[in-house]
This record gives sequence, C-alpha cells and structure tokens, in this order.
Amino acid sequence: MKKIAVFASGSGSNFQAIADAVVSGKLQAELKLLVCDRPGAQVINRAQKLGIDQFVFLSKNYSNKEEFEREILKQLREREIDFLILAGYMRLIGPTLLSEYPERIINIHPSLLPAFPGKDAIGQALEAGASRSGVTIHFVDEGMDTGPVIAQQTIEIGYNETRESLQEKIHSLEHQLYPVTLQKLLTSI
Ligand code: GAR
Repeated sequence: MKKIAVFASGSGSNFQAIADAVVSGKLQAELKLLVCDRPGAQVINRAQKLGIDQFVFLSKNYSNKEEFEREILKQLREREIDFLILAGYMRLIGPTLLSEYPERIINIHPSLLPAFPGKDAIGQALEAGASRSGVTIHFVDEGMDTGPVIAQQTIEIGYNETRESLQEKIHSLEHQLYPVTLQKLLTSI
C-alpha cells in the first residue's frame, strides 16, 4: 500500500474525509502524517483524535521556504512517504519538495480550473456571477493551481446561492471526489 502524507492549513474536513476512507478501506493507503503550517488549526485536533503523526510548523521560524521544506522532507523520508496530498494547504510547494516528488503531489481546488485559481475561489466564482463552478483535483507543479488535471466535477450555482450554501455544496462534492480519485490513482501506479 502507498504511504501518504496530507498537507492542510485549516479546518481539515478533507483530511477527515481521506482519513475516514482509509479507515473504512475505501482508500487503500496508509495515512502516516499530517503536515500543517498553522499551529492551532482544527485539522491538528482531527489528526490527534485519529492518532496520526503531525508535523506542525510556523514558517516565520525558518529563514526561507527551502529551510522548512527540508525539514518537511526529513519527516517524509523517515516515514517513507510515497505521495503528498494537499487538502487546503494554503502555500505554494517549492522546488525542494517538487524535485523529490515529481508527479507525486496532488491538490484539490474548489473551482473548475483554470477558472478562479488562487485564494477564495468560491468568492471569486460568486463575484464573477458564474452559473457553474466545481472541484478540480490535479498534479502540483511550480505554478499556482496549474498542474495537469486528474479529475473535475461541475456543480450549478443557483440564482440565490450564498457563500455558505456554495461552500457546503463544494465541500460535500470534495469529500466524495477526493477519496475516490485517490483510490483510483494510488492503486493504478
Ligand atoms: C477546500 O475547499 C479546498 O479545496 C481548498 O481549501 C478548502 C479546505 O477545506 N483549497 C484551496 O483553495 C487551494 N487553493 P478543509 O480544510 O475543510 O479541507
């Protein structure tokens, strides 16, 4: 079975969906590590409850990205991690990790890329008056939400949609699509 590390910065509902899929056997992988760049983030409590190792860091305690990514790499190597799964990790991955994990870093983004990359994709879609949005799962490259697409699914945006209702629709789609897509990918490589 492939060994995975999930990277997250926030509430971690996608981390939870992945962990639940691992426990139930729908995702045949070993979830060995949570990497989190925000001490106090809710995702840390989720990992603690599940007994999953965590590496939590503050970027300002390092002189640059290369330095903290080297530390992350050490943690990944110790656990022989095969794939990095980004789930709301609000930071660009740098060359240190990209060169060590080519085509082995996967991200989920709450829009139909290339539309609405970057921060607050849900707000961007509402602001633009889009009638559709969705979820994209893609390989990570050096750009911002630019790597090759693995899976995409569309949702309609209703005329009376609010940020909360759209976020809820996107999250429930993500929680279903991410584990299923990872299962296909990790068992085919
Ligand atoms: C998810 O909607 C994910 O697609 C998004 O952050 C949210 C994290 O939610 N990621 C990005 O916007 C990446 N550019 P969660 O912490 O509840 O899983």
